[in-house]
Amino acid sequence: MPNKFRIVFIGDVCGKPGRKILKNGVPLLRAFLQPDLVIANGENSAGGLGITRATADEMFACGLDLLTGGNHIWDKREGLDLIEHDMRIVRPGNYPDGVPGRGSILLSHHKAPCLIVNVMGRVFMEPVVDNPFTYMSKVIKEYDAKVIFVDFHAEASAEKQAMGFFLDGHVSAVLGTHTHVPTADFRILKKGTAYQTDVGMTGSLDSVIGMRSEPVLNRFLTGMYHKFEVAGDNPILDCNLIDVDINTGKALYTRAFRFYNETIEEQLNQCASEIP
Ligand SMILES: [Fe+2]
Ligand SMILES: [Fe+2]
Repeated sequence: MPNKFRIVFIGDVCGKPGRKILKNGVPLLRAFLQPDLVIANGENSAGGLGITRATADEMFACGLDLLTGGNHIWDKREGLDLIEHDMRIVRPGNYPDGVPGRGSILLSHHKAPCLIVNVMGRVFMEPVVDNPFTYMSKVIKEYDAKVIFVDFHAEASAEKQAMGFFLDGHVSAVLGTHTHVPTADFRILKKGTAYQTDVGMTGSLDSVIGMRSEPVLNRFLTGMYHKFEVAGDNPILDCNLIDVDINTGKALYTRAFRFYNETIEEQLNQCASEIP
């Protein structure tokens, strides 16, 4: 039996409702799934846009080990110092030189060294970042780790799928974030990389990607400015579980989950026999 390294990765945490379900959910996920690492994308954790010291502290206190980011991670000015100095936070590494923070973290976990990488796509996104494919080919040559986890923060499914094939056999997992809508395509690619186009979101299900639907709808209907607000109803926690063989770095198992706030424990009990 291979010695495995288990990662739980949680989709974009959206505002207070997202942080609230983490408080309930992460301790349960830890108790039931016994992960070696729990990571969440935190780019929307502060009021739906950006990250602050207070929201990061709150999320780490729930039991998260690391936070990843994306295009919205810069949206709170007070978060810039945190991104620069907190070594538990990674932001897309293909931003230009001089931008605060780091794109990867090499963890010296007692089981195995583990590299966490955050990278951002360019299709239908701000054209400020470097080519994510050439960026990733440099990153995987730079580090000596078998267990490599990649959060690919991108809009276009095609760009994400292409990245999955590009990194297949070179990293343990390529999981997508940013759209806040989970895809049903989680699987292990032919050369051993776990893949999902988008993990989804941790926040209100009754929303437009985490925001109250009325102002969003009004903007679509009129084209006029309407202030967006984080939605609070019916919080969900979307995540993906990956088991990695620490000797080869290849994925052994992957599965996506959607947990509902009131039934997390019940759902975990129900699927306990299906998880290796
Ligand atoms: Fe997001
Ligand atoms: Fe994003």
